[in-house]
Amino acid sequence: MVKMIVDNLPFFELERWQSLRENYAKILLSESGVEPLTLGELTEIIGEPLLNDDFQISYGWTGGSLKLRKTIAETYSAEVDENNILVTNGSSEANFIVVLSTIREGDVAIVEKPNYMQIINLLTWRRAKAIEIWRKPENNFKIQIEELLDLISKNRPKAVFLTNPNNPTGQYLTSEEIREIHEEASKHHAILVFDEVYRGLEHNGEAVKSILETGEIGNIIAVSSLSKAYGLPGLRIGWIAADSTRVMKMWSLKDYTSIAPSKISDEMAFKSLQPGNREKIITRAKEIVNGNKEILREISGKYPEAMEIHWPHAGAFFLGEFTWSRNSVEICEKLFKEHGVLICPGETFGLKGYARIGMGQSPSKYRDSLIALFEGLEKIRRN
Ligand SMILES: Cc1ncc(COP(=O)(O)O)c(C=O)c1O
Repeated sequence: MVKMIVDNLPFFELERWQSLRENYAKILLSESGVEPLTLGELTEIIGEPLLNDDFQISYGWTGGSLKLRKTIAETYSAEVDENNILVTNGSSEANFIVVLSTIREGDVAIVEKPNYMQIINLLTWRRAKAIEIWRKPENNFKIQIEELLDLISKNRPKAVFLTNPNNPTGQYLTSEEIREIHEEASKHHAILVFDEVYRGLEHNGEAVKSILETGEIGNIIAVSSLSKAYGLPGLRIGWIAADSTRVMKMWSLKDYTSIAPSKISDEMAFKSLQPGNREKIITRAKEIVNGNKEILREISGKYPEAMEIHWPHAGAFFLGEFTWSRNSVEICEKLFKEHGVLICPGETFGLKGYARIGMGQSPSKYRDSLIALFEGLEKIRRN
C-alpha cells in the first residue's frame, strides 16, 4: 500500500530515504549530481568575488532577476528570451508548479518508469490518469519510440512528461527521437514537459538537444536547474522555460509556493552561467563522471557477483542489479547500517532488485568508496 501524506499525495520515498540518512553516511553514494563545488572553487572559476559588500539581501525579483532570466535563455539555441523563463527554487519547485498549472482531475498524462517519482506522485495527488511507459532492462532501459508514439496517438493525453537524460537509467533520447515525439504530441495538442536537469552530463559527445531546440515553444515546457551538471545544488536555483503566457500563469502560482528565489543564489547563478564560466563548470562535471566511470570499470571487474551494472550514458549515477536478491531496500539498509555506505534502493524509483549508485563523487575519494561498497555488498550477499 502506498502511504499518503495529505489528501491523495503519496509519500516521496526517494527524497525521504536520502534526507533521513545522507548527513550520517560515512560514504555518500546516493547523490545523482557531481560533487558540489565549494565557495572557494566557484570563486576561482569565476575569477572575482561572488558577492560584494554593498549587495543588499532583499527579496529581489520574484520570478528571477532580469539578468539571470536573460542568461538562462541564452543557454538555449532556441528563440527564447527572459519572458520565457521563470526562476524557481530548484527544478523540484519547477516540476511542482508545472503539474499544478497544467493538470486537473481526470486529465490523462503519459509518464515513463522507472522514474524520479516527483511528477508521478504529483499526478496521483491531482487525481490525473497516468499512463506508464516502461524503460525495460532488455532494451537497455531505452524508451521504445514506436510504443510511445502509439500511446500518444491512442490516448491523446493532456501532457507527456519525460526526463531527458533519464534518472535513474542514465539513458537519453536522440535528437531524431525528440523530434518524432514533438511531432506526434503536437498533432494531438499534448503538452510536452521535459525535465532536463541532467542535460550537460552526457558522458560522451555533444549535449543532448533540449526540447526547446526542437520546435515551436507553444506546447513545450522545459525544466532544469543548477543542481546536477553544475554541482551547485545548494543554490536551489532551477527554472521553467515555456511560452510567455504560460510563464505568467506559473509565476502567479509561485507567489504561493516560495515568492522568490534567494537573491544571493540568483546573483551567484548569474555569474556561474556566464559564457566561459559555464563551460568550465560543465567540463569539470564531465571529467569527474568519465574519470569515475573508468574507476568503476576497474573495481567492479573484481567483484563480478556483487551486482550487474547497467552502464549509463548520462548522469552522475549508475544502476546496479542484485541478481541474488530482489529486496533492494533490505540490502541498502544493511549496507548503510553495517558499512556506512549510502545508496538508493530501486524500489524508490519503482524498480525492485536494483539500486541507484552515485558516480559523481570527487575522484580522489571514489576508488575507496567503491571498494567499501563492493566489499559491503559481498559480505551481505554471503551472509
Ligand atoms: C529528474 C529530477 N528532477 C528534479 C530533481 C530535483 O532537483 P533540484 O530541485 O535540486 O533541481 C531531481 C533531483 O534528484 C531529479 O532527479
